[in-house]
Amino acid sequence: MDARAVEFACSPRRAPTFVRGLGATLWDEGGNEYVDCGASFGVGNLGHCHPAVVEAITAQARQLIHVGPTFGTDAKAAFTGRLLSVAPRNLRRVFLSNSGSEAVEAALKFARAATGRPKVVAAMRGFHGRTMGALSATWRRDFREPFEPLVPGFVHVPYNDIDALRKAVGGDTAAVILEAVQGEGGVHVASPEYLPAAREICDAAGALLILDEVQTGMGRTGRLFAVERWGVEPDLLTLAKSLAGGVPIGATLATEAVERAFKGSHNSTFGGNPLACAAGSAAIDVVVRGKLWERAETLGSRALEELRGLEAPAVREVRGLGLMIGIELRGKAAPVLEALQEDGVIAIGGGSSVIRLLPPLVITDAQWARAIESLGRALRNG
Ligand SMILES: Cc1ncc(COP(=O)(O)O)c(C=O)c1O
Repeated sequence: MDARAVEFACSPRRAPTFVRGLGATLWDEGGNEYVDCGASFGVGNLGHCHPAVVEAITAQARQLIHVGPTFGTDAKAAFTGRLLSVAPRNLRRVFLSNSGSEAVEAALKFARAATGRPKVVAAMRGFHGRTMGALSATWRRDFREPFEPLVPGFVHVPYNDIDALRKAVGGDTAAVILEAVQGEGGVHVASPEYLPAAREICDAAGALLILDEVQTGMGRTGRLFAVERWGVEPDLLTLAKSLAGGVPIGATLATEAVERAFKGSHNSTFGGNPLACAAGSAAIDVVVRGKLWERAETLGSRALEELRGLEAPAVREVRGLGLMIGIELRGKAAPVLEALQEDGVIAIGGGSSVIRLLPPLVITDAQWARAIESLGRALRNG
């Protein structure tokens, strides 16, 4: 039976049905092969079924599948240690959960409970998830409206507008939450001044800075964490998607000062479960040993140059950082996505008029060249 017949219809679904994946390749039930340039919204930085992740999950499953967060496990100790060894140096505390939305929820709760303040300032076009708190920080009206009233105290300001941010942040602000590159919002990159200014504005008001790296983290933008490019130290940083090589996970990193100021209780039954932690340790090792961010930088800048040089009137603008690329069209993205899929290339949208490429960082040169060539063809015909 096709799962789509019984899945609660609350978000778009696309054919085909996939049955297997390896690296940047996916196979559907008819045996057709695709180059995966969407990587499940950026989950697959290591591609599908990376052998190191498969090995880690298999070994862990034989040992211990689940123990709740109240207790320690050796898998959790190894993972949190490994994560903090590569994280921005000022972030020394980790809270583990199961998704990006949960990582954001925790960051918002920690910020409110640590500051005792209600207000959260987010950015227009920002996306932080679909649970009620994370959704309150998310911008898109069609995502928000059916579920109102959302959590009170959230305001949105234009992205990359320092004056607007300064005006919005005050003595009642718990946190500013931003993405270094807005992914779902259509791949908009923060200006060089924006994140340092956000840091200074937060410091002046006694507010916390939350950097949401759920999509940009783990090498995607040409650095292990995108924030490294801006040289900014956030108070809280959220990770998920590719952190455990495809296994569900969320992580909220915080400073010791945030932990000291936090008054309250927060938890997640499956947070820090041994399977995800084992997969996470393996995934971090693969990214760090292979310096996969360097590959993201090389392949990404080459593709940006090529796509910007395309003579395709359908294209309004090409934006991106590393292997996070958005092609904004004058018309709808859907027909181009369909043409690409027919040609064996999976890409995703970022809003209705943006084609988003988030390929695995392990995509081969030949696969990437084939994808860009196919995209060029679809855009010239579009
Ligand atoms: C920046 C950002 N934050 C949070 C989320 C929510 O993550 P999840 O879908 O795992 O809840 C996403 C998902 O696309 C995201 O891109």
